[in-house]
Amino acid sequence: MKILIVGGKGTIGKKVSDHFSKKHDVIIAGRSSGDVQVDIADSQSIAAMFEAVGKVDAVVCIAGEAKWAAFDAMTEEDFYIGLRSKLMGQVNLVRIGQAYVNAGGSFTLTTGILADDPVVSTTSAAMVNGAIHSFVKAACLELKNGIRINVVSSGLVEDAVERYEAYFPGHNPIPMKKVVNGYVRSVAGKGTGEIIRIYDNR
Ligand SMILES: NC(=O)c1ccc[n+]([C@@H]2O[C@H](COP(=O)([O-])OP(=O)(O)OC[C@H]3O[C@@H](n4cnc5c(N)ncnc54)[C@H](OP(=O)(O)O)[C@@H]3O)[C@@H](O)[C@H]2O)c1
Repeated sequence: MKILIVGGKGTIGKKVSDHFSKKHDVIIAGRSSGDVQVDIADSQSIAAMFEAVGKVDAVVCIAGEAKWAAFDAMTEEDFYIGLRSKLMGQVNLVRIGQAYVNAGGSFTLTTGILADDPVVSTTSAAMVNGAIHSFVKAACLELKNGIRINVVSSGLVEDAVERYEAYFPGHNPIPMKKVVNGYVRSVAGKGTGEIIRIYDNR
């Protein structure tokens, strides 16, 4: 398979890219990292990336930002960071990318546990994650040529514990192998419209 991984050099992305690179042709995209440059917050940049890369069998997005701050400190513009990047970035990746995915191919997006179990300072991140879950459930009804779409929603991942653990008191970090398997299930499985939740909160 030819697999385009946006954010494939990031904390989660590099583990996912390493896995798929063993057996597949992987192209990594990022704003400054990877084989091809893209800013998913800019739809012209997304279109240029697909023109450069051409047809693929799978698009995986493990990128997208949202502002983390106390709700009473969030400006309207702060909310637009997440709306433009993590939400519309991933929506536009699918909207534009559907013409570049081969029949039977797939999209895999990324959200996170905040959609279901938010923590303090995540009104924006939680909101866009929830919106992406709804988008995936609706888009799977309309994608043509057998193209599938799923989203991987994991808890705080082991490799990001140092950066984020203060925000997630009492959360059990998710081993990277389990996170990678969420992406494998989406790309190599047959499911569509799935929110692949990888949480450890019991
Ligand atoms: N870390 C966690 O525990 C965790 C858990 C659940 C969900 N998530 C979600 O998973 C995603 C990745 O998290 P991460 O921890 O792996 O992040 P990360 O280490 O910051 O990596 C993000 C990657 O995405 C690329 N990127 C960021 N913004 C981009 C943009 N606008 N256009 C194109 N590429 C962009 C970055 O490359 P460039 O800098 O070159 O652009 C980088 O390769 C995020 O959406 C995050 O919310 C993370």
